[in-house]
Amino acid sequence: MDTPATLDALLRALRTRLQDAGIENPGLEARMLLGTATGRDTTQLIAHGNDAATAEQAARADTLCQRRCAGEPMAHILGRRSFWTLDLEVSPACLIPRPETELLVEQALAVIDDLATATPRVLDLGTGPGTIILALKSERPDIDAFASERSHEALQQARANAAELGLPVGLWRGDWLEALAPAAHFHIITCNPPYIAPDDPHLTRGDLRFEPRSALAAAANGLADLYRVIDTARAHLSLGGWLLLEHGFDQAPPVRERLRQAGYRAIRTLRDRSGHERTTLGMR
Ligand SMILES: C[S@@+](CC[C@H](N)C(=O)[O-])C[C@H]1O[C@@H](n2cnc3c(N)ncnc32)[C@H](O)[C@@H]1O
Repeated sequence: MDTPATLDALLRALRTRLQDAGIENPGLEARMLLGTATGRDTTQLIAHGNDAATAEQAARADTLCQRRCAGEPMAHILGRRSFWTLDLEVSPACLIPRPETELLVEQALAVIDDLATATPRVLDLGTGPGTIILALKSERPDIDAFASERSHEALQQARANAAELGLPVGLWRGDWLEALAPAAHFHIITCNPPYIAPDDPHLTRGDLRFEPRSALAAAANGLADLYRVIDTARAHLSLGGWLLLEHGFDQAPPVRERLRQAGYRAIRTLRDRSGHERTTLGMR
């Protein structure tokens, strides 16, 4: 790419390329890519749009734009994704936080506030970059926050985010609840497990192509991990404690049935902003 004369001209060139590649929000993403390439925020880019663009800035912007036009997720290119009120570092080793998971956070906060306990113990299973537990700890600093994760790289990412945000969370590597002593109990257990069927064609499209399969897909039509967590979490809940699960839009009936079979009470499902049944909870 020839170096456009000014930052504004560079921004326009990026926008056109993203638009031609079929990107949904080319203006917004062009600004984000240029911000990363130049180290300037949006306000600075607007105020200094007539500044000359350097060849280095144009080359960096060109590389980032090529990656985006090839379909790579913005979160991987920028290395960050906003979730709840947090700005999380993310990498290709973990799931990119999704807006629909905020429903589970909202509900977990409501449950925390209803508990007659000053310091609720909260465990998040399969925490990825720390998405759910860091949102909860940031809102309710008094909780005792714990999280586990099977992927070493994702766990490292969660540790880095917790340190960057200054939020203390007890983190360990493990297969769901297996590392826990039988006596370990929590008031709340949250989990957004892999729940896509391995043969779902969505796995070969969009952002999902770039995310770890182990964070997305589960056997038994996507239900295997949901069932395993349901079956094993109850023994680690205090009496009156809650399990909150995110699941696929069509998985609420089997999830409710499994919770019922496992002995949970007060089972209910909540819909996300798109109207899909997305989060189901049950009480011990
Ligand atoms: C759908 S992602 C959710 C990530 C994050 N909690 C969120 O809500 O964005 C599922 C996470 O579960 C982890 N995971 C998959 N199988 C696991 C297992 N057997 N034990 C623990 N974690 C597991 C994956 O590595 C991944 O980070």
